[in-house]
Formats: sequence, C-alpha cells, structure tokens
Amino acid sequence: MAASPRRVVLAYSGGVDTTACIPYLRHEMGCEYIVAMTADLGQGDELEPVREKALKAGADVAVVVDAKERFVREFGFPAVAANAVYDGQYPLSSALGRPLIADLLVGLAHEYDCDAVAHGCTGKGNDQVRLDLAVALLDPRLAILAPARRWGFSRAETIAYSENFGIAPHVSKEKPWAIDLNILGRNVEAGLIEDLSWEPTEEVWALTQSAEAAPAVPEYVTIGFVAGVPVSLDGEPCAPLDLVARLNELGGRHGVGRVDMIENRVVGLKSRELYEAPALTLLLQAHRELENLVLPADVLTHKAPIEQAYAKQVYDGLWFGPLRQALDGFVGSLQQYVTGDIRLKLYKGVSTVVGRSAPKSMYRYDLVTYGPESAFNQDSAEGFIDIFGLPSRVWARNHGMVPEPELA
Ligand code: ARG
Repeated sequence: MAASPRRVVLAYSGGVDTTACIPYLRHEMGCEYIVAMTADLGQGDELEPVREKALKAGADVAVVVDAKERFVREFGFPAVAANAVYDGQYPLSSALGRPLIADLLVGLAHEYDCDAVAHGCTGKGNDQVRLDLAVALLDPRLAILAPARRWGFSRAETIAYSENFGIAPHVSKEKPWAIDLNILGRNVEAGLIEDLSWEPTEEVWALTQSAEAAPAVPEYVTIGFVAGVPVSLDGEPCAPLDLVARLNELGGRHGVGRVDMIENRVVGLKSRELYEAPALTLLLQAHRELENLVLPADVLTHKAPIEQAYAKQVYDGLWFGPLRQALDGFVGSLQQYVTGDIRLKLYKGVSTVVGRSAPKSMYRYDLVTYGPESAFNQDSAEGFIDIFGLPSRVWARNHGMVPEPELA
C-alpha cells in the first residue's frame, strides 16, 4: 500500500469546516505540510483575513488566487454558449466554480511538490464529486483527502474540535442556512430551506430584490455578442467581469434570476435549493434568443439535447472529461455565427426580449412579410406540400384514415 499522503494543498474558504480541516489533516491524517489555497471567484469577502486565518489554523503556506476573470471567461461564458441549465432551472453558478478550484489545487500541488489535495466537502453534496472527479481527470496520481467526509462531527463537535487548537470560529450570528457565493451567482440550501413548505423570507436573498420591491419603471439593456461571447452592453464594449457585475446589479434590482427548486443531486438525493443568478439568467436568455435568430432550425433541434447533456456533465463534475469537451466542440463550432444584439426589458421579476438584431440573421423580412414587397413565391408551396405530404397520403390509404369508398 502507498504511504499515506504527507504534503497537501487544501481548498480553503475560511469557513468553520475548512478551518477545522487544517489541524485535522495534520493531527489525525498525518500531513506534515499544508498549503491552504483560497480561490477568489468573486465571493466578495476580503481574502487577506482569510489567508491569515489559514496560517493561524496551522497552514504552512496560504495563498489567495484571483481567479475571477478565468472563472467568467473559461467557465461562465462557455456554459452560456452551451445554454447550459440543469434540471430546467439551475444555471450552474456554483457547479462551474469547482473544476476551476480543482485546477488551481492541482497546479499548486505540482508547484509545492505535494502528493495530495484536500477539501472540506461533506459526503452528501455535489461539490465533493466535482472536486474529486476534476482532480482525478487532471492528475490521477494525487490522493484526495476529505476530512469532513470522515470525521462524523456535528456542527458543535467541529467547533469544539477547533477550540482545542485555539481557532474557534465566531458563530454567534450564524444564518439558519448555508450559502455559496461567487460572481456568477449565489446558492442557499440546508437549514430552514429543508422545510419544503417554508416560503423564503426576504433576508434569504442577497443579490435580488423581490418582484414586489422592484422598481415600478422598467429598464432596458442590450447585450451584444460576438462569436457567442458577450462583449458589450448598450453598444459599449464591456470587459467580462464588468459585464457580469453590471448585469448582476441590473437583474438583481429588477428581481430577475431567482430560483426555488427541488434538485436531483449526483449522490441520488433530492434537495431544495435556492439560487439567484441575475447576470447568468440574462446572458442565457439573450444568447438563446440570438442563436434562435442566426442558426437553422435543424441545428437548434440537435443542439437542444447537447445542451442538456452539457449541463449534466457540468453538474456531475465531469468538466474536464472527454464528453464535456466533445460537446463543447459541437457548441464551439456553431458560436462563430452567434453575433448580434439582444435587447431585454426588465420589469418586476421578469425579463422579456424586446429587440433582436444580427448581421447574419436568418430572419428575412422580405421573405416573411405579408406586405406587397414579399419575395416569397407562394405558388411553390403547393408543390412542396405535394411532395412533403406524400407519405401522409400513403399512410392514410394503408390505414384507413379516409372512408373506404373514397380510396379508389
Ligand atoms: N446544490 C448546488 C450544486 O450542487 C449548490 C452547491 C453549493 N455548494 C456549497 N458548498 N454550499 O451546484
């Protein structure tokens, strides 16, 4: 049997569990060198105090990696191009962050000559699956340590364990639910949310206003795409992070992008999850609309199941796997055509498409109009239907769908 891992990079958030992981890795799991890695995915916390906390908890090295730009460009925008939504509702805001965190863990493991990576995920969630699978796909030689899957501590026991090391967290005003936040969205689960009949009160939400509290005056935004990538707002070029931040703000103000759903977790559980992802919601809506304008119907029909498979791959933690990458090839080959502008109207929790334009739009006014200038030859419709309807007539003859005497 291989010797147990000695040098480890831990994904460190600064929360109760990952903090307790540091002494646990050292004292119960025999790690002699611990690198704490905190990825800045736009969770909005001050990360220097988090870094210091890791050192105080006993990490040998603590690093903060600003990964916001990569997150949006390499994970968020490709998912938008794929119109990736899980279970019809979840825009994958949390799920998309995990392969990136895994990638950063693996990079640091190589840099610090580590033989393992670690995380603070429990055994019930999807994030453990995503991190474990992404690490396996990137470097299967690395061991994966997940103390919180092993220790069997209750919340109080985790805190008591931390107290032994003088790193007890301040939990006086702990929220009765769990939060995961990044620049692409916010997730709330557990605690009060587990009661399926409980309607979330307003303090659950942080990025969005309720529709009731949203302004009584609508606001408009035009999202411009070039080759499937959002590049401008209201005609002004806009860098990825700024674009996402502005759409979060705008959508949030108008109560757009809230989800309250029962989700099918990878580990077989159904769980209730709340999401707010205003920017992603608007981007997905606009991108889908633009594709509908520029791509032929048969391509759209074939893209739909690809999108679902793509979303499931992301959800299941298989970002770096061959299927997600192959699906990305299909999606990517079509994005060169997805250039244009979509105008949205935001009002009281709803975003509506109110304008569309694309230099290579397949919508042709001159063909579709009922006006006198129509270039569509209606006479040809008869011949088309004659041929298109041939199997229908044969079928009707064979299966008696018209009364017998008329068949002759
Ligand atoms: N259930 C969601 C998902 O699987 C959210 C996970 C949030 N993660 C967390 N550690 N709270 O994507």
